[in-house]
Amino acid sequence: MSTDLKNLPRDRLMALLREMPKAELHIHIEGSLEPELIFALASRNGITLAYESVDALRAAYAFSDLQSFLDIYYAGASVLLHEADFFDMAMAYFRRAAADHVVHAELFFDPQTHTERGVPVEVVISGLVRACEAAEAEFGITSLLILCFLRHLSEDSAFDTLAQALPSIEKHRGRLVGIGLDSSERGHPPEKFARVYARCRELGLRLVAHAGEEGPPAYIWSALDVLKVERIDHGVRCVEDPALVARLAGERVPLTVCPLSNVKLRVFDTLAQHNLALLLAAGLCATVNSDDPAYFGGYLNQNFVETFEALPALTAAHAYTLARNSFEASFASAAQKARWVQLLDARFSLG
Ligand code: ADE
Ligand code: ZN
Repeated sequence: MSTDLKNLPRDRLMALLREMPKAELHIHIEGSLEPELIFALASRNGITLAYESVDALRAAYAFSDLQSFLDIYYAGASVLLHEADFFDMAMAYFRRAAADHVVHAELFFDPQTHTERGVPVEVVISGLVRACEAAEAEFGITSLLILCFLRHLSEDSAFDTLAQALPSIEKHRGRLVGIGLDSSERGHPPEKFARVYARCRELGLRLVAHAGEEGPPAYIWSALDVLKVERIDHGVRCVEDPALVARLAGERVPLTVCPLSNVKLRVFDTLAQHNLALLLAAGLCATVNSDDPAYFGGYLNQNFVETFEALPALTAAHAYTLARNSFEASFASAAQKARWVQLLDARFSLG
C-alpha cells in the first residue's frame, strides 16, 4: 500500500524520512572513519596516534571552519595503509547506509591523501571497488566511485595523480566514473584546475566539484563555465546571486547539500538558519547528503531528520522531492533511475 503524503502528520513524516529509498551523492569515504575504526586500524598497522583514546579524539571534533576540520580529517586518514583498510572503511559505511535505506551511493575518495604517504593509488581503488561489489551482494546497494583532487595542491599534482590512477580508471570503468574537487576552498578557485578537468572530460569521466561551501558564488560560476561540471557539491552560497540561482534552476544543475556539515563547519550558525527550504522553493535540484558523517554528527537519515525538525517549512512533499532529486542527480543509468522513481512512487503518493 502506498502512503499518501498530503496532510501527513509531523510524527509520521520523520518515519517517512527514515524509510524512504534514497541515493547519497556526497560522502567522502575517508570522512566515514569513526574514531573506533581509526584506533582499530592504527593498532592493526602499528601507527601511534596523537590522541590518547577514542574519547579524546572525538572531543577534538569542534571545528571553527573547513580548514580546522580538514587538519583532523587528514590526520584520521593516516591510519589507512593496506587494501583491507580501505575495504573495511567502505564496508562500515555501506552497513550504515543500508540501515538508512540508501539504495545507491556515489563515494568520493582522496587519492593524494594516501599517495603522499606512499600508498599506491591502485591499493586505494582496489579496496574500495571490492567493498562496492561486496555491498551490492550483501546489502543490495549499488555504488559508484568519484576520484577527488585536493584543491590546496597544485594542478600538476592533480595531473600526476590522474596519470597514476589511469590504469585503475581503465580497469574499473563502470565503477570509477568521475572526478571531483575538494579540500580547502578559499583561495583555490575552480579555474586553477581548468586543464586537468578538460583532460578528464576528454577521457569521458563525469565531472563534479565542491563550490560555494565557503567560497563565493563566483566559484560556482567558474565550476560550471570553466570546469564544465554536471553537479555542484554544496553550492549553498548560490543564493547570494539571483542570476546564478536562475541558471542552476534553468539547467537543473544538482546541488549536493550537506546540512549537518554546514552547521559543524559554521557555514550556518544553526540548522534553523539553513537555506535548504529556500533552495527547493527556488526550484533547484537540491539533494541531502552526509559529507563526512563520522565527523559531523550523523549519517544520511540523521541529516534528513534533524533538518526537517529544524525547518518547519519542509513537508512530506519536500521529502519526496529530495528523494526523487537524489535519483535524478545520480550518475546511474536512465533505466536504473526510472526504476528507483517507480519504487518511490509505488510507496508514496502525493494524492
Ligand atoms: N573534504 C572532506 N570534506 C570536505 C568538505 N566538506 N569540503 C571540502 N573538502 C572536503
Ligand atoms: Zn564534501
